[in-house]
Amino acid sequence: MRPTQGPFPVTRLRRLRRTPALRDLAQECTLTVKDLIWPVFVREGQGIEEPVPSMPGVSRLSIDRLVAAADRAAALGIPAICLFPYTDPALRTEACEEAWNPDNLTNRAIRAIKAAVPQLAVMTDIALDPYNANGHDGLVRDGIILNDETVQALVRMALAQAQAGADILGPSDMMDGRIGAIRAALESAGHPDVAILSYAAKYASAFYGPFRDAVGASGRLVGDKKTYQMNPANSDEALRLIERDLREGADMVMVKPGMPYLDICRRVKDAFGVPTYAYQVSGEYAMIQATAANGWIDGDRAMVESLLGFKRAGCDGILTYFAPRMAERLARAI
Ligand code: PBG
Repeated sequence: MRPTQGPFPVTRLRRLRRTPALRDLAQECTLTVKDLIWPVFVREGQGIEEPVPSMPGVSRLSIDRLVAAADRAAALGIPAICLFPYTDPALRTEACEEAWNPDNLTNRAIRAIKAAVPQLAVMTDIALDPYNANGHDGLVRDGIILNDETVQALVRMALAQAQAGADILGPSDMMDGRIGAIRAALESAGHPDVAILSYAAKYASAFYGPFRDAVGASGRLVGDKKTYQMNPANSDEALRLIERDLREGADMVMVKPGMPYLDICRRVKDAFGVPTYAYQVSGEYAMIQATAANGWIDGDRAMVESLLGFKRAGCDGILTYFAPRMAERLARAI
């Protein structure tokens, strides 16, 4: 028993739950539109919105539609959008050279958004999987995911994205040493102000399935990602990864997936006190959407509750496919 709290009936915790006004006053955490980063899928073409079947409500957008979506996001007050490309299968190779093509889909999308909606922060993904013939985040030789060679490729990719105008780079590959290499390259290439949000504690998760459909990596992946993504049973290792990435020059850190790893979010925030983000990944989104579509839960309430949970766990923000829907809901509530 805490010393500041008398025994029943002096203390009746239900007193502050009696009315909506009292509950509002006693509320500890809040979710605002400024907490949201919106991940979006981009594809080639004009005027295209191609639904992703395993992510109801999410579509791959051609750049013109993406710019319109970015404009809507900014109007709703969403601070950042995060781009993921669906690369033409013909451009997916073992060497992944499309990843650092200055005119690849992502880099063209960055330029288009920054030209049309400059106030919206553009975040990117740094990993080779959308460009890789075998679906892995790194270069593969004889079945081994190569670390150091991959880091060199990621540096080239990062520089091309910075050159295109990205505000935040998101290395999601889990190679060792990539944050330091990218930070050094950004400094020497004249991009000292580009931020890095490291996918620092990224687990080898079943919850990425629908995302792999969305970027066209599902049928391609040979084997699994367990030699570079984390074992879901580990927690101390997450702190080591976060500390390492902060030392190497990460400005912000991420825990991914989100809902099964809220304990990691809390530990990271308490241990380091740095800008901490969670990614509510595709499978988490799909679970809520599918269950709601069956009428088994109230989808809107589940969305709000799931996002509030991240704030309660100490996160400064959340990458979520619900971002526009949540933002619209918040706007209606004012
Ligand atoms: C790959 C990447 C993945 C996600 C973001 N970047 C998938 C993976 O590691 O296989 C997953 C996002 C989601 O599931 O929503 N570099």
